[in-house]
Amino acid sequence: FNVPIAKNEPVLSYAPGTPERVALKAKIAELRSDEIDLPMVIGGREVYTDRKERMFPPHEIKHTLGYYNQGDASHVEMAIDAALEAREKWAKMAWQHRASIFLKAADLLAGPYRAKINAATMLGQSKNAFQAEIDAACEFADFLRFGVQVMTDIYKIQPESAPGMWNYNEFRPLEGFVYALTPFNFTSIAGNLPAAPALMGNVAVWKPSKTAVYSAGVIMEIFKEAGLPDGVINLVYASGPVAADVVLTHPEFAGIHFTGSTGVFQSIWKKIGENIYKYKSYPRIVGETGGKDFIFADNTVDPRVLAIAMLRGAFEYQGQKCSAASRVYIPESIWAEVKEIFGKELATVKMGPPEDFTNFINAVIDESSFDKLKGFIDRAKEDEDAEVIFGGNCDKSVGYFIEPTVILAKKPDYITMEEELFGPVLTIYVYEDEKLDETLDILDKTSIYALTGAVLSQDRYNIEKIAKRLENCAGNFYINDKPTGAVVGQQPFGGARGSGTDDKAGSIFNFLRWTSIRTIKETF
Ligand code: ALA
Repeated sequence: FNVPIAKNEPVLSYAPGTPERVALKAKIAELRSDEIDLPMVIGGREVYTDRKERMFPPHEIKHTLGYYNQGDASHVEMAIDAALEAREKWAKMAWQHRASIFLKAADLLAGPYRAKINAATMLGQSKNAFQAEIDAACEFADFLRFGVQVMTDIYKIQPESAPGMWNYNEFRPLEGFVYALTPFNFTSIAGNLPAAPALMGNVAVWKPSKTAVYSAGVIMEIFKEAGLPDGVINLVYASGPVAADVVLTHPEFAGIHFTGSTGVFQSIWKKIGENIYKYKSYPRIVGETGGKDFIFADNTVDPRVLAIAMLRGAFEYQGQKCSAASRVYIPESIWAEVKEIFGKELATVKMGPPEDFTNFINAVIDESSFDKLKGFIDRAKEDEDAEVIFGGNCDKSVGYFIEPTVILAKKPDYITMEEELFGPVLTIYVYEDEKLDETLDILDKTSIYALTGAVLSQDRYNIEKIAKRLENCAGNFYINDKPTGAVVGQQPFGGARGSGTDDKAGSIFNFLRWTSIRTIKETF
């Protein structure tokens, strides 16, 4: 069990003139000028089809980055067959060899592929350099390195043996294949969803979001260079319902590793239920879904700390982190001061393409997201129960740009205090100081989701009270910090209620879902 001690990959600064900035700029220029023809990767083979879908940066919709090859049901079947063919050898491979492939992949990400994975994420998913770096390079490398450590921690879990016998646990991969259905918002999460089961000896069919195919292609390149055998992870570009029809009715379907919307996860769960008699084993269902993440402040908070937590928590990566703060509760007595500081800070924030390294805000992911967000903003402009107090401009002529927007809700159950918007729109509810308990009750009642949340206060009694009262409202709870930025190995990530199965990405809790334990007793 002697594996390198996992350490978080240091985040590089990308300050002007640094070698990382020079390399990243050059890679961005290269990827922008090259119109690539991005294949699926099935059984190690590059697969091209007649259906070429255009790839473009969300912030520059007229610029073509290239085309990806869209597959259909037959490609999903091919991917399952390739996975099952690879399964026997991969499942029998000694864990040290599986580990060394993923440790090498982490080193490739942190080294020679750092610029490429960040550039693909910046261009394909409209992330600024810092957001790409903490995600695609660092968090992904962390997932792989901590994954190796966690895997070996699991293998050490062994039962007692009474005299005259020997008991031991054998950690088998699941019998069949795992389906990884992955989101656009984190390249690291997308890569980790097939990688974590694969580390535990499973084979996977991977369907990325259609808005994050470029970075998915780069991840497959890295896995290949790291020595991952053909067929262990198979990348298919297909429509979600088409893939679901094939995957979820297959007798060897052994589990799903999912990050995406609550609605899609629920429909998958239902379909699994409908097909339960077809499967060899009960499939593992692991999902991280929606969120309506909150910040709750009391009147002892430092207004500047609160303003910065709001700004960063709500607007980094255009509010498209699953963890992003999207509703804030602020006591009346401090609101004016917080608003002034927040407004001044917000005025310094620039919006534009990520290729210009000074833009904090880039575009939202696609047109349907843009239209949805604009719809809520326009509605708030008209509604009596709401007021748009910052931002509110939306423009999709060049890219899908939504100005960071703040809605002041006059009722605590105003629609944008409850619905997940997934964009740079923050709703604030100002409560009367003496109604703190009542406001906590409302927060709990309106928490259909329970992913992340934060309490900001300098009063330890209040912190304790609020943390306890909101114990079921967040799987990741922050005291005096923004609710985003969970780091692998430090804050295992995931939530309950409508936010998922709370299996804590990157941790031992998650990895335990990807093994089926055989307990052996031998009598002497
Ligand atoms: N690590 C990501 C965050 O917490 C998911 O924002």
